Amino acid sequence: MKRTIKDLVNLKGKVVLLRVDFNVPTDDGGKILDTTRIDNELPTIKYLSEQKARIVILSHLGRPEGYDVRKSLWPISIILSRKLDCNVSFCNYCIGEEVKERIKTLPEGDVLLLENVRFYKEEEQCDMKFARELASMADIFVDDAFGVAHRKHASNFGVARILPNAIGFLMEKEINALNQILENPRRPFVAVIGGAKVSTKIKILEKFIEKADTILIGGAMAYTFLRAMGQDVGQSIVNSESIPVAQSILDAARDAGKKILLPIDHVALHAKSKTLVTTSKMYGDLIGFDIGPKTIELYKQELDGAGEIFWNGPMGMYENKAYRNGTQSIAEIIAHTKAYTSVGGGDTVATVNLFGLSHRFDYISTGGGATLKYLEEGSLPAIDVIQEKIL
Ligand code: ADP
Ligand code: 3PG
Ligand code: MG
Repeated sequence: MKRTIKDLVNLKGKVVLLRVDFNVPTDDGGKILDTTRIDNELPTIKYLSEQKARIVILSHLGRPEGYDVRKSLWPISIILSRKLDCNVSFCNYCIGEEVKERIKTLPEGDVLLLENVRFYKEEEQCDMKFARELASMADIFVDDAFGVAHRKHASNFGVARILPNAIGFLMEKEINALNQILENPRRPFVAVIGGAKVSTKIKILEKFIEKADTILIGGAMAYTFLRAMGQDVGQSIVNSESIPVAQSILDAARDAGKKILLPIDHVALHAKSKTLVTTSKMYGDLIGFDIGPKTIELYKQELDGAGEIFWNGPMGMYENKAYRNGTQSIAEIIAHTKAYTSVGGGDTVATVNLFGLSHRFDYISTGGGATLKYLEEGSLPAIDVIQEKIL
């Protein structure tokens, strides 16, 4: 078990470098569209503030190449100061004299938010000189940035190798929730996996053949599986190079006595005439963009009887309203079951928010790639480097 901020004593007056994931969705101009990741971080910041630590916060936003005003964290400092009782100030840099001066005069219990750490190319290179500069400003490092814990970057992996450290409340919550799924799921455990590309979901499917009782597959990736079973899928997206692995996943599930269900009907577009049809038979120029009503009914029967459900990956091309029904119906069915329900994945969590169903899920992970990777591997590099709790 990892050391948490509750295990840290005498924080009064100490400079705590807190790595968070404030990688929030923004519009093209940089306007923040959703504050979920900020809201989820407040308990850790409030606790450190109550302990009278001097809190220096580091985060990335987007994938900038050098300075980009649209990716500045300054607007987040304004949001934070509205949501917190302590003072929040902002610094245009992450390292250097100005940061050091600002930290020297930072009052106990207050927050200094540093600029987007990805403005420095050394961050993603995990440059240890840069990590040492960051570490030199603080007494303790707290990593609460679960969403980026699958990356070995200077401000998480690098700094943790230098300073005494612990994880924050959000990281702890994510680890516990995902361990629960891996170690002690309620039965029957149904995993719903969708999305576009089979190659990005192979490991998670293999994991769920081991851990789940039933796997329901939707989204474009279903067509690679249907093709592996010898079915005509018309012109639907098929990752030809993934057909053998799809075949081996189906074989592994059969050998393990696990149920894998695939769509039995589709909402599909005739590529030439641009007419939409709902059909059980795919052929010719039909392209499947969503699961059909019979599939929704079939999947509902499995979901209604589940003890635990984990969902990742939309059932169709939900960005287009014509292909949203499958994803929305499955989201609503999951949201209204008695099962313990968790959801992860950038797009999938976005759909749950879009349908106004987030309050009906038991657990919504703040990670995208990190959540899937944690479920696949049972750990993440930036978590591994944190000190163990002394029991
Ligand atoms: P997450 O981010 O939750 O892990 P993915 O990124 O794996 O989810 O999958 C989401 C993408 O899959 C969406 O952009 C969606 O449009 C696409 N998708 C799902 N089904 C289809 C389909 N039948 N045809 C084309 N794209 C699809
Ligand atoms: C995320 O949003 O998944 C994390 O913040 C990681 O971002 P990245 O994929 O740009 O490293
Ligand atoms: Mg995605």
